[in-house]
Amino acid sequence: MILEVSEVSKVYEGVNRSLTVLDDINFSVEEGETVAIVGASGSGKTTLLGLCAGLDVSSSGEIRLVNHHLNLLSENDKAEVRNKHIGFIFQNFQLLPTLTAMENVMLPLELQDKAAEAGHKAKELLERVGLGDRMNHYPNQLSGGEQQRVSLARAFSNTPDILFADEPTGNLDDETSVVVEKLLFDLNKEHNTTLVIVTHDMELARKTSRIIRLKGGKIMTDEKVKA
Ligand SMILES: Nc1ncnc2c1ncn2[C@@H]1O[C@H](COP(=O)(O)OP(=O)(O)OP(=O)(O)O)[C@@H](O)[C@H]1O
Ligand SMILES: [Mg+2]
Repeated sequence: MILEVSEVSKVYEGVNRSLTVLDDINFSVEEGETVAIVGASGSGKTTLLGLCAGLDVSSSGEIRLVNHHLNLLSENDKAEVRNKHIGFIFQNFQLLPTLTAMENVMLPLELQDKAAEAGHKAKELLERVGLGDRMNHYPNQLSGGEQQRVSLARAFSNTPDILFADEPTGNLDDETSVVVEKLLFDLNKEHNTTLVIVTHDMELARKTSRIIRLKGGKIMTDEKVKA
């Protein structure tokens, strides 16, 4: 198993009441599996993805990711696991505003002392997502869909073992969505990259091997997709 989520809850403590956003979540994902997480707005999808990737800390429960108990790792160790093994596509992109598209994509490799190959790899990935002519633009000079594609190229740059994607096609037109979807599933086929994709797009969800449906912070269903 590349990801094991056991009895995970997330509670936000307010001034006079607490809000349970995730309530006793249990599931595990095998290497190479493709999983969609679906559910209404506010059902806890982004929160769950952040916990799985070690970007956020649960209130209780355990998460094992690429053979690491996330609870037992320091922030630095978690960052190292993320750099080496994880790709993450944020719902709101989270590109660094002071870096160009090219520099944003190069960063994960540079952080792993792979600066020598970073430029070449970044160029190749940006061309694959159709941004060969936008490489030196800054995020504020790019449209939402273009930023999303830079974020995708960045998430691919370290050839992750597992890729978490939060609405990877949420801001894209149909044609670009097809390109992005193909990239995701090609990555899975070429490198056996595990995909965990949050999406509202049921057509995309049905292309994965399994759909987990969240409702009010609980798993309602967890079903294999029939081929
Ligand atoms: N820092 C926070 N403090 C308090 N409540 C929060 C915080 N972050 C998220 N929430 C709440 O947790 C719930 C789940 O949020 P989350 O972003 O995981 O939903 P989602 O399923 O990704 O929704 P969407 O489809 O709109 O992206 C929401 O009700 C949200 O208001
Ligand atoms: Mg969300």
